[in-house]
Amino acid sequence: MSDLNFDTLAVHEGLARGHGESIGTPIHAVAAFQFETLEEMADVFQGREEGYQYARIQNPTLAALEARLAALEVARAAVVTSTGQSATLLALIALARAGDHIVATNTLFGGSLGLLNVVLPGFGITATLCDNNPASLEAAIQPNTRAILVETVGNPALDVPDFDALVRIARAHNIALIVDNTWGAAGALCQPLALRADIVVESLTKWASGHGSVMGGAVLTRVGYIPNAPAFNDPDATGVSLNSRHGDQAFAVRARYLGLHQMGMTLSPHSAWQINQGLETLSLRMARESQTACDLAAWLETQPQIAWVSHTSRPDHPFFKAAQRYLRCQPSVLTFGVRGGQAGASSVLGNLKLILLAANLGDTRSLAAHPWTTTHGRLQEPAKLKAGVRPEMIRLTVGLEDFTDLKRDLEQALATVVLEARETVASR
Ligand SMILES: Cc1ncc(COP(=O)(O)O)c(C=O)c1O
Repeated sequence: MSDLNFDTLAVHEGLARGHGESIGTPIHAVAAFQFETLEEMADVFQGREEGYQYARIQNPTLAALEARLAALEVARAAVVTSTGQSATLLALIALARAGDHIVATNTLFGGSLGLLNVVLPGFGITATLCDNNPASLEAAIQPNTRAILVETVGNPALDVPDFDALVRIARAHNIALIVDNTWGAAGALCQPLALRADIVVESLTKWASGHGSVMGGAVLTRVGYIPNAPAFNDPDATGVSLNSRHGDQAFAVRARYLGLHQMGMTLSPHSAWQINQGLETLSLRMARESQTACDLAAWLETQPQIAWVSHTSRPDHPFFKAAQRYLRCQPSVLTFGVRGGQAGASSVLGNLKLILLAANLGDTRSLAAHPWTTTHGRLQEPAKLKAGVRPEMIRLTVGLEDFTDLKRDLEQALATVVLEARETVASR
């Protein structure tokens, strides 16, 4: 169905067609699949033939979601996982082994920083974190580097990578460019593989499913085989490498074997069904949430209690040009600094009546958070500042509510900052 456009693929791809087929993807709530002969069963179990055998490894509901995601992200292959966190871990360990090295931006999601700083070093894989600019990332590459890991939009710094430059660097050093495209909303906001990145990982918990009601993740590849990683080029017991045996499916085969078969990072079919359903309205939600975020960013800039606003739609944003070049629409997340520092931010967050105080992203409801004390609360202060987090910062992920209602809620919460400042002056 590759000649169809994004919105059409989002509702049709992965669906079985024909007499008697259901018009939506069924949930296959089973643990195992039948065979007619032992020979057929042995062929599938030993990898000579494709087929469903045991639901930890593959299931038709998951396969339908993988087909749809691959179409939306213009990927050669997709493997879905239980969470976004497991997808990132899986992509890194599929490429790197003990003694290998990863280069990444220091504005990555906190869970990814934890993998690179704490979890993987325990297994002999090290990482260098640096600012999100091509020169710093290239300077950090070592002979044992297997990949560069960046995010489509850094959270909450809202930094957008220079994809063209990073693709050139990855090719020149014969390593993989991995993009966490969680904010890219399964392709609705950005398609890193179309920009020639090699691997996409993403959390489907956010915009892709879109209702804050399910968790999931995915690993997707553009070319399917990985040129420089020994895990893909070294011969197996029969003398054949993964790249030679599986061609453009090599990465997906290894990811499924490692992540699902061996480690059990499998998504439940019920969750896969829910995510598939969410994808059907993804474009509509993204367009609406994006527009409201742009409107709120412009309005917040005019408010006296606001020290600064950060959103890539604002022409003075450092990543305004990169967002125009690489993103299909503006992100639906903005951050702003409240006058009065952390106390000001705390006052606003404590007085919101409509917007919920919660740390998810890409929900139908608007959610506000204070990254300094929550999502990045475990980091040391210098690391927080490097990640673009400030004590006075509020992160707002914009949902589907009416703009006027969101504005009114923020207005009344911001008014408490002024009141408290006056009260402070009066009490002196
Ligand atoms: C950019 C990014 N990547 C990955 C994850 C992890 O996703 P999950 O919570 O589905 O494990 C998150 C979660 O917030 C995220 O923001």
